[in-house]
Amino acid sequence: SGVERLGDMIAEAKAIVPFTGAGISTECGIPDFRSPGGLWTRNRPIPFDEFVASQDARDESWRRRFAMDETFAAAKPGRGHRALASLYRAGKVPAVITQNIDNLHQASGFAAGHVIELHGNTTYARCIGCGQTYQLDWVKRRFDQDGAAPDCTACDEPVKTATISFGQAMPDGEMQRATELSQRCDLFIAIGSSLVVWPAAGFPMMAKNAGARLVIINREPTEQDDIADLVIRHDIGETLGPFVGN
Ligand code: OAD
Ligand code: ZN
Repeated sequence: SGVERLGDMIAEAKAIVPFTGAGISTECGIPDFRSPGGLWTRNRPIPFDEFVASQDARDESWRRRFAMDETFAAAKPGRGHRALASLYRAGKVPAVITQNIDNLHQASGFAAGHVIELHGNTTYARCIGCGQTYQLDWVKRRFDQDGAAPDCTACDEPVKTATISFGQAMPDGEMQRATELSQRCDLFIAIGSSLVVWPAAGFPMMAKNAGARLVIINREPTEQDDIADLVIRHDIGETLGPFVGN
């Protein structure tokens, strides 16, 4: 079966790079983007240039984020996260590349610096001008006091979740680390991503072209199934559950 083949490939590999999308966190209660009921089926994404240009867009963006507070606070690592953390502790996985912003790889035991966050992190905020970071509690207090999304106390530019929006520049350091990891691994496993958002979606192909085996685990077909060595079209928790170790 697919899971047995995956087990063999994991056993044979020396450097496994997992690449995760929202599908690994759905069993943790966090909705994905493009499935029925996903975030982009309910709300249009707010592009970065709109966030910068419009106070209304910033207010709407923060209202949406506050509405997710309890979801993010309640979320615990799932079987997928825990399986990857086990492989990390076993020395098989040098780091995880993720498109997710939910901090659950860190919560599962990956050390800081071993989670490459291509699309940032929604558990804290950052000034888009000077980069000053802020706790979400501070933003919430200011929002409730002023009835509007706050600006940076240092430079007056807007404060945004520390995530990457459409139209916003990708983080250089993360792109570079992800490139190195993709080119140096011998097994690359794309997990729970529709693989439609670029440049993130370029890493599976980059790994494959550099000689790694490519596995795709996703319950729906993805854009890149045809270049994979193994496609497991099945639930992630069930597929990776057997790899949860110590
Ligand atoms: P998507 O919502 O596009 O894809 C998630 C995939 O996971 C879907 O194909 C689901 O079928 C699958 N899936 C969900 N739960 C699953 C489960 N339990 N088992 C197996 N498969 C499951 O999410 P991403 O690919 O992560 O970026 O989206 C990529 C980017 O688009 C995000 O990082 C975000 C979004 O816009 C930005 O906002 C910049
Ligand atoms: Zn600032």
